[in-house]
Amino acid sequence: MSGPNTNYDPVEVAALDPAAIEAATTSALSAIAAAATLAELKAARVAHQGDRSPLAQANREIGALPPSAKAAAGKLVGQAKGRVAAALTERQGQLEEERDARILVEEAVDVTLPTGRRPLGRRHPLELMSERIADLFVGMGWEIAEGPEVEAEWFNFDALNFDADHPARQMQDTFYVDPPDSGLVLRTHTSPVQARALLERGVPLAIACIGRVFRTDELDATHMPAFHQVEGLCVDEGITMAHLKGTLDTLATHLFGDGITTRLRPSYFPFTEPSAEMDLRCFACRGSDPGCRACKGTGWIEWGGCGMVNRNVLTACGIDADRYTGFAFGMGIDRALQFRTGVSDMRDMIEGDVRFDAQFGMEI
Ligand code: PHE
Repeated sequence: MSGPNTNYDPVEVAALDPAAIEAATTSALSAIAAAATLAELKAARVAHQGDRSPLAQANREIGALPPSAKAAAGKLVGQAKGRVAAALTERQGQLEEERDARILVEEAVDVTLPTGRRPLGRRHPLELMSERIADLFVGMGWEIAEGPEVEAEWFNFDALNFDADHPARQMQDTFYVDPPDSGLVLRTHTSPVQARALLERGVPLAIACIGRVFRTDELDATHMPAFHQVEGLCVDEGITMAHLKGTLDTLATHLFGDGITTRLRPSYFPFTEPSAEMDLRCFACRGSDPGCRACKGTGWIEWGGCGMVNRNVLTACGIDADRYTGFAFGMGIDRALQFRTGVSDMRDMIEGDVRFDAQFGMEI
């Protein structure tokens, strides 16, 4: 005789109770009807049709029933599962239709809208001007040189024959880099590249350097604390001031056209001797208006400094100053752009308004 059935579990049998099956079905149907999105429906499907759902569990328990009860229980559970499956399929269809209709509206493309409404980008006019300058020098066989914007004080001043107490070294003109004894400045001109090129490349040489320089000027219509220069340096045997003037006139004609008038005016720089300043005839009044704001009534606009390389600079860079001579210049690029375009306020050049670039930044 067999012993008592100790594995018998009255709870499992209770799951096959018709009332419990009906309750599981009702709760499944209401969860399916309440699902407002496909994601919610998916959750309802897992809960009420998945392996661990009450109906799936009831289905598994049919096998444990006595053969006489199996058929009725199978029918009961089968029907309940069928109702749930049908409800799921129907709701799935409805929700997919809703989603498709919504996508059609949301992603509708109005093919009647005008095209090309996004403004095209433009290259900055200063960049174009710099390239135009570089092209000229490369075309003349010069090389393009570069130097760091955070420069050693030694290159920015000492190598260029500035005295220890030269006023340009003072804090009110120069941005010094912390800590105070770092020996570094934001270069105040591109001339340190002269010394770097002489040391690195030796002579003869002809280099142009286009770059950004910094001075502690307030930002106003004619001054910027960061601006651009083109430095030129040419050293060889027999170089004279005539070569300097010829080169600068070629640059001026290249940038401003044939009718441009220039003048050299005596000046002083510690690293050139003799030194001069090159001025351009005022673009606004051509020298005819004593009240002109562009040239302050002088008729001329300062463009930059130049001169014959001081022999102290050549010597400091290890070059035989009895054999070699050279000229150098440093011209303002922002000035040149202002001159070429008639932009009276320099701030327009750096404020990044695309409407400014659009006017001047397009070149074909
Ligand atoms: N570096 C000078 C300046 O910024 C310009 C200059 C360059 C003068 C080369 C002479 C030779 O004012």
